[in-house]
Amino acid sequence: QKPKVIVSVPLPPDLRERLAAACDLVDVPMGQSPADAVPADVRAQVSGMVCTMKTRIDQALLDALPALKVSSNFAVGFDNVDVAAATSRGVLICNTPGVLDGAVADVTIGLMLCLARNLVAGDAFVRSGAWAQGPFPLTRDIRGKTLGLLGMGRIGRVVARTARAFDMPVIYHNRREDPEAGGLATFVERDELFKSADVLSIHIPLSAQTRHSVGKRELSLMKPTAYLINTARGPVVDEAALVDALRAGTIAGAGLDVMEQEPLPATHPLCGLPNVVLQAHVGSATHETRRAMIDLAVANLLDALGGRQPAAMVNPETWKAAA
Ligand code: GLV
Ligand code: GLV
Repeated sequence: QKPKVIVSVPLPPDLRERLAAACDLVDVPMGQSPADAVPADVRAQVSGMVCTMKTRIDQALLDALPALKVSSNFAVGFDNVDVAAATSRGVLICNTPGVLDGAVADVTIGLMLCLARNLVAGDAFVRSGAWAQGPFPLTRDIRGKTLGLLGMGRIGRVVARTARAFDMPVIYHNRREDPEAGGLATFVERDELFKSADVLSIHIPLSAQTRHSVGKRELSLMKPTAYLINTARGPVVDEAALVDALRAGTIAGAGLDVMEQEPLPATHPLCGLPNVVLQAHVGSATHETRRAMIDLAVANLLDALGGRQPAAMVNPETWKAAA
């Protein structure tokens, strides 16, 4: 008998076929809880799941899926998962690191260029005909300016490498100094990072420890000419404090691909600020990268169910325990 797996992410037809050859598929609309969407007798037999970060994997869902062995996240971030609860039940959590580093780094660099050179306003300036009244106001160089990275994981490293091509000195702070960052970026203390960066970019995961970890105090350390960029997770930043800082001119601007509330409502104060560039959580959202992510997510699930060690495990101790 084939294992039953919940599919709560759109699958390309060829992958759906491959998964269906090995598993019984139980479709759940993206973001709906399988606890509500799937009848209890089916839920009791579900051993695998592939889902997005819109599915909350908490104690209640784990209770509703008593036979679950593996859940494969279609994302590198896994703040939708109570990892401790999953681990204590021996449920393996997989994710998609590595394949999206370049795409997220590109949006980070793009936001930096938009902020420093005011490219979004420049587009509106030309379209509106305002150019006829005189030239566009002068902007700021990024070359020679210091890029500060909060977090030096895979994505941070690609951002650092890319920034070197812009002749930017790169400094970083991480929980521990990263030996692989040597030659690419210089480790500094956390406060020093906020004080010295001309562009401060966030590349840490969201957790109980990092929630609102960039707040009023950190923003007040930053230069009034500095930009904040967040392509990681919205709640890492205390958004109310950020809005205050942007209004007061404590910092010069912010480029955000992620927010505390997504989708961001048009009535949100951020949407009314001229010194902000916003994107709709699109860091990994290219055809090529999303395909690589779904390939990896499905491979992780099939490997785990087939008894082969998956390439990307969040809590590998559950794998060792099962083996
Ligand atoms: C996207 O936000 C991801 O975590 O992959
Ligand atoms: C993100 O989670 C990374 O690998 O940097």
